[in-house]
Amino acid sequence: VQNLWPQSSYGLKREDDYRQQLGNVALKAIPLAMRQNNSYLARRFFEEAFKVYPEQALYTYIEPLRTFAQEKELRRILLLSHYLKPISKLNPELVSVKDSPCKRRLMVGEGGFQFTLALIRKHETTHPNLASAITATEFRSPLPQEKQRIETLNALGVAVLHGVDATKIGTYFDKRFRRIHWNCPYSSNLKDVPSYQGKLEQFFISGSQLQKKGDRIHVTLRKSPEDAFEKNSHNPVLIAATGANYRLFRKRRINRKRYPKYQPTKSESGDVLFGFHYREFVFEKVCQGSAKLLDGAGYKRRAEKLCNPKIKPYTVGVNSQDPNWLYYDCSTDEDSSDYYESDEEEMEIDAKLDDGLEPFKRTRFEFQDRIGKRARDRL
Ligand SMILES: C[S@@+](CC[C@H](N)C(=O)[O-])C[C@H]1O[C@@H](n2cnc3c(N)ncnc32)[C@H](O)[C@@H]1O
Repeated sequence: VQNLWPQSSYGLKREDDYRQQLGNVALKAIPLAMRQNNSYLARRFFEEAFKVYPEQALYTYIEPLRTFAQEKELRRILLLSHYLKPISKLNPELVSVKDSPCKRRLMVGEGGFQFTLALIRKHETTHPNLASAITATEFRSPLPQEKQRIETLNALGVAVLHGVDATKIGTYFDKRFRRIHWNCPYSSNLKDVPSYQGKLEQFFISGSQLQKKGDRIHVTLRKSPEDAFEKNSHNPVLIAATGANYRLFRKRRINRKRYPKYQPTKSESGDVLFGFHYREFVFEKVCQGSAKLLDGAGYKRRAEKLCNPKIKPYTVGVNSQDPNWLYYDCSTDEDSSDYYESDEEEMEIDAKLDDGLEPFKRTRFEFQDRIGKRARDRL
């Protein structure tokens, strides 16, 4: 496989050619890695091939998973294949797990609850118990146009609550939530940035009281930290997560393809927010406790120390005009489903199996450096 792997994008006319080559080699490498009993490598090759040839990659990966009886991974991939081409009849191999309980989820600042409903709708065939594992909350009172959606959610089994301040969730609830979500926590008004910073810090500290090590907080932000608005939203999230001892665990796309029925909305009016290029930052709790650090350099050091490169490699970028303006410099990950209560943190298991991957990783990062930050984000 190493001989086949294209060494760099140098000499190839277009980035697309290089990606296609990677996809071709990765497709061939999946069964080889499986035969060598290296499931970690097989999964990595699958992910690479899936980006270019999704259907072929699924087909190539599913068969050896069946042959080698890798049930959990098979289930994950069958779910992925179901989401790629939703059909009303569930694959018989998924039927036995679909009634398992789901992880308890707390959604805060949900506005008109579009996201909660889109999440449930997307997974309703595969995870019929998801709705009853969700507590969905919002700070302000419901708007008239939201009433029907709230009734639908109640009927599905979601606990919908208003008047819940995300900065005080640790005092409202007394049960563990393995997942907490806040999508687009900012106000659309740039003047609100200082209070937004404090709000996010309190949200992470308070949320941490409801979580154990390994539990996660999801925050969705607009995509690129390139204009003033976006820098204003990325930096506070990094500071808040780092101060509460959470590390970046995943960065995923949130778009119409992933959640066809979700469109982020504005705070007060509930009107649709402009554009649809969002990233979901998933943070993992590393340990209890929180600390306020002196300056950007302190937060950068702490955030990089919290990073586990085997789980999610990242560095912390510093804005050239302001050393206190920080952002995560990292690639974007594929979606994955771990909604069942019984799903363990698969990447940690993978990290323990991490062998034979160094040449693969090196080539990939060299490639990423070469094509620069914009292309890296698209990957
Ligand atoms: C930009 S909107 C996003 C709404 C929704 N999450 C979405 O993605 O469509 C920000 C939301 O955060 C809510 N919010 C603001 N401060 C809050 C707080 N302290 N606690 C909980 N929610 C808050 C607002 O009421 C508003 O619904």
